[in-house]
Amino acid sequence: MKLFDVYPLYDVEPVNAYNSIIIDKNGVEYLDLYGGHAVISIGHSHPHYIKKIKEQVEKIGFYSNAVQNRLQSKLAEKLGKLSGYPDYQLFLCNSGAEANENALKLASFYTGKSRVVAFKNGFHGRTSAAVAATDNTKINSPLNQQQDVTFLPLNQIELVKAELKKGDVCAVIIEPIQGVGGLDEGTTIFFQQLESLCKEFGVVLILDEVQSGYGRSGKFFAHQFHEITPDIISIAKGMGNGFPVGGIIIAPHIEPNYGMLGTTFGGNHLACAAALSVLEVIETENLIDNARITGEYFSSQVNDLPGVKKIKGKGLMLGLEFDFEVSELRKKLIYEKHIFTGGAMNKNVLRILPSLTIGKREIDLFIKALQEVLVIEKDVVI
Ligand SMILES: Cc1ncc(COP(=O)(O)O)c(C=O)c1O
Repeated sequence: MKLFDVYPLYDVEPVNAYNSIIIDKNGVEYLDLYGGHAVISIGHSHPHYIKKIKEQVEKIGFYSNAVQNRLQSKLAEKLGKLSGYPDYQLFLCNSGAEANENALKLASFYTGKSRVVAFKNGFHGRTSAAVAATDNTKINSPLNQQQDVTFLPLNQIELVKAELKKGDVCAVIIEPIQGVGGLDEGTTIFFQQLESLCKEFGVVLILDEVQSGYGRSGKFFAHQFHEITPDIISIAKGMGNGFPVGGIIIAPHIEPNYGMLGTTFGGNHLACAAALSVLEVIETENLIDNARITGEYFSSQVNDLPGVKKIKGKGLMLGLEFDFEVSELRKKLIYEKHIFTGGAMNKNVLRILPSLTIGKREIDLFIKALQEVLVIEKDVVI
């Protein structure tokens, strides 16, 4: 059998990894400033993470959600405490798309309505309602297009009000910092007005923190910079440091009933052990502070690089916007300098999404490599 060929691949085959280093099959070391799409939060192969997963799988790796699983309550308690949402409720699933799918479904159950308001350039995943709320016609099949979604530009609150006033909207879904789109974000006043409009019109406000959450922005959740409290928060990526786990955090006024949501694999013992160990490392190694401090250092070092128009994002969720398309630059960084970076829908943006453990040394290495590539190849690249 052949693989279904949907991914354009770089010619690199990682076989080993530790912290921010990836080693390929030929023994070449790469600096990982992308974390496999913002997934690696505590560093590759963290010893505490390995220990906890090993210990758990030797006991019990999986049983269904029909029995008691104390690890789920332990995870909910720790997550509530570290995230600042101790009175919210946790529903566990397996990925970011699934988290948003459940968030939108729950909003629809709660309000009895079905239209969704989402934002231009937003990305929420590739499944049914999540992909319909994603602003990319190329990945929306005719089946997905049956969902009723209205896309609005960021920061235009009057347009949001006009839609919510119509009375048929179940949810507004928004990323606090757009990931795949290219690191654009709403202003604090926009987020605060969005929160009060949702309250006024009985619409569920969903903050998609799949990429920006778990400390990446320099706070546990990026929306906390705006001092808002959403009704539902979706999480995944950094939550399991590579173990597939996701979830939604749900405000107390949204009450559950049996069968409303469900999953076979979500919240299994192994996933909970992985997710708990990630939170333990984030806490003991002060990784949220490190994300903020290292992000500030990064921003202070990039201003004079040739071709850089703007530095976008927060903490270690960063984008460098150039005055040219970055795909060739990314190839040079990976093949010549052995550094992994990311691209975005905005083709001029280079995305930097490293492990939250990185420090000045890795940033300095990256800046030096970038300077060399930009200067040596200036005529070609720019
Ligand atoms: C903001 C956001 N939401 C949802 C998703 C989908 O997550 P997954 O690929 O785990 O389904 C992504 C993935 O990039 C994302 O960035």
